[in-house]
Amino acid sequence: MQIAVVTGASSGIGREFALRIDEKCSLDEIWLIARREKNLKNTAKTMRTKARILPLDLATQDSLIALRRLFEKEKPVVKILINAAGFGKFGSVQSQTPETIEEMIAVNIRALTSVTRMVLPYMGDGGGIVNLSSVSGFLPLSYLAVYAASKAYVLRFSQALAEEVRERNIRVTAVCPYWVASEFIPVAQETDDGDSINQFRFITVPYRVVKKSGRDHEKGKTLSLPGFVPKAIFCLTRILPEACQRAIWAKTRKISRS
Ligand SMILES: NC(=O)c1ccc[n+]([C@@H]2O[C@H](COP(=O)([O-])OP(=O)(O)OC[C@H]3O[C@@H](n4cnc5c(N)ncnc54)[C@H](OP(=O)(O)O)[C@@H]3O)[C@@H](O)[C@H]2O)c1
Repeated sequence: MQIAVVTGASSGIGREFALRIDEKCSLDEIWLIARREKNLKNTAKTMRTKARILPLDLATQDSLIALRRLFEKEKPVVKILINAAGFGKFGSVQSQTPETIEEMIAVNIRALTSVTRMVLPYMGDGGGIVNLSSVSGFLPLSYLAVYAASKAYVLRFSQALAEEVRERNIRVTAVCPYWVASEFIPVAQETDDGDSINQFRFITVPYRVVKKSGRDHEKGKTLSLPGFVPKAIFCLTRILPEACQRAIWAKTRKISRS
């Protein structure tokens, strides 16, 4: 059985990736993972490929164990894995509850790493892994510190893994978008101290991100910068001193809060 696995398939970028895979690939099943079963069913309704609905909370160890057991039982051939599940919260580290911070780390880092590790033995020659990082992974972002650091992890993890699995002919791509219009933003704005960002200039849509990063992945690129803004930020973070990057973000954040 040849399958694709998509985490975060209930909305936004993950949902858009599931639809793109459905359109482009001939597979036996696409496994759709997120917490909201109803949304996953809605994604499945618009697909021609058979979908397996897996309503799992990836922040929990039980869900990761359940998923591992499913792989052991079904022994599928995974053609592509999309790790899109993730979330962020605006606000200072001190204002965020320990639970919020732990959940962010659990979903953005632990689950992404565990699901990738789980899938690797089932991935054959020509397989692919797409991990959703972010431009926030390029620089230290105050008042988005844990999220940005988690995306730096995703970026470095993906780049290192790409090297390890190259000889198995498996492609790994870290996708680094700027703001994308999805449920990510209202989720991030629900802060513990009400200190949020409210302006999102140069925002793009999931369709554009998925179209560009899907192409980059097919070309074998390890890093996908979907759009002009991610490219510009990437270049600036290569040349500007870190103190300067922090100052620019502080100014941008101040303007974006009004
Ligand atoms: N939107 C942006 O501005 C932006 C920019 C750069 C990078 N990204 C990254 O892109 C990825 C996709 O984000 P998006 O923009 O598509 O946001 P989104 O629409 O909010 O999608 C996030 C997905 O993650 C799932 N998820 C969250 N917590 C989960 C949990 N505990 N267990 C299982 N699934 C969980 C959500 O499903 P349920 O709620 O149903 O569980 C949802 O399907 C994320 O990793 C995000 O960090 C987003």
